[in-house]
Amino acid sequence: MEIKTNFSLKKYNTFGIEAKAKQFAAVHSIAELKTVLEENKSENKFILGGGSNMLLTKDVDALVIHIDLKGKRITAENEDYVWVESQAGENWHEFVLWTIDQDFGGLENMSLIPGNVGTTPVQNIGAYGTEIKDTFISCEALTTINQELKTFTKQECHFGYRESIFKNEVKDQYIITSVVFKLTKRNHNINTSYGDITNELAKNNITNPSLKDVSNAVITIRQSKLPDPKELGNSGSFFKNPILLKTDFEKIHHQFPEMKYYDVSETEVKVPAGWLIEEAGFKGKRFGDAGIHKKQALVLVNYGNATGQEILNVSKNIQETIFKIFGIHIEAEVNVI
Ligand code: EPU
Repeated sequence: MEIKTNFSLKKYNTFGIEAKAKQFAAVHSIAELKTVLEENKSENKFILGGGSNMLLTKDVDALVIHIDLKGKRITAENEDYVWVESQAGENWHEFVLWTIDQDFGGLENMSLIPGNVGTTPVQNIGAYGTEIKDTFISCEALTTINQELKTFTKQECHFGYRESIFKNEVKDQYIITSVVFKLTKRNHNINTSYGDITNELAKNNITNPSLKDVSNAVITIRQSKLPDPKELGNSGSFFKNPILLKTDFEKIHHQFPEMKYYDVSETEVKVPAGWLIEEAGFKGKRFGDAGIHKKQALVLVNYGNATGQEILNVSKNIQETIFKIFGIHIEAEVNVI
């Protein structure tokens, strides 16, 4: 394994931001990972997966370890379910397609989400009414300090909306090396309740959708709204949808009756940040090479040579304006480095 110095990370982050790593190593096995950790104890370390959920605003003054562990396998099965393990460095969408090809159900609504399998538990990725936590069984992770492998069960992961223990209590202490999902072999729980999916299937006159039909519908919807990072640098939703207490929301809603919202519990509602950003006039705006996507206001984009700082400034401008207009604070979903 080679350690490179002053290494460009442009190709390793989906925003396509130019930033340099002081040192960079790609690891292809747990043994290599242990060696690089062991031999570089005194270095600051930065763990890099698919680079799809981060904004680099400066050079990374650390040893960047790119997790390139590959492989997927069935670890157990019965008549109804299959337990599938994927190594952290597998591309998420390719993994999802592999499960669908074998008619294993549970991940189809999360088709085409960028990034690698190993980072999916970190922020409990989700789309179209499904989250990783719905099929997640456990993940294996290596401590950065003494290179011990530990298994985290679903309960131990403390999953929430785009949240987990890996973003909070044990932040930066573990490197996820593999993940196990429990998928259905029959009686699939096809979830088409999300309005866009229902409409997309209806357009194609599909009344009894297969896993593949749902996946194809999700792919079509995502491609129509979300930019392909290979063509236009981006990191998916830049902000989380804010969750407000109903009592606070009612006052705001009174002033902005057309504001969209979804109930999340007896006491809380979720407001689509995309709606707030669009309403504030930002959708499709461009500031130099940094901008707001014209089809989905939650997505910030790099038109070519934006710096991370420029994108961060746009995000701050949006946050401040939204707060001024609506009194709502929207929080970044993307990790700002
Ligand atoms: N909306 C607008 N304008 C916009 C975008 C959205 O008004 O430009 C409003 C519309 O009212 C729309 C509502 O927001 O009905 C919801 O929009 P959408 O269905 O596109 O979902 P979202 O809330 O914007 C979330 C996730 C996405 C995920 C979709 C589908 C977050 C932060 N984002 O977006 O996740 O794909 O739902 O489930 O929860 C990601 O995390 O990178 C991501 C793309």
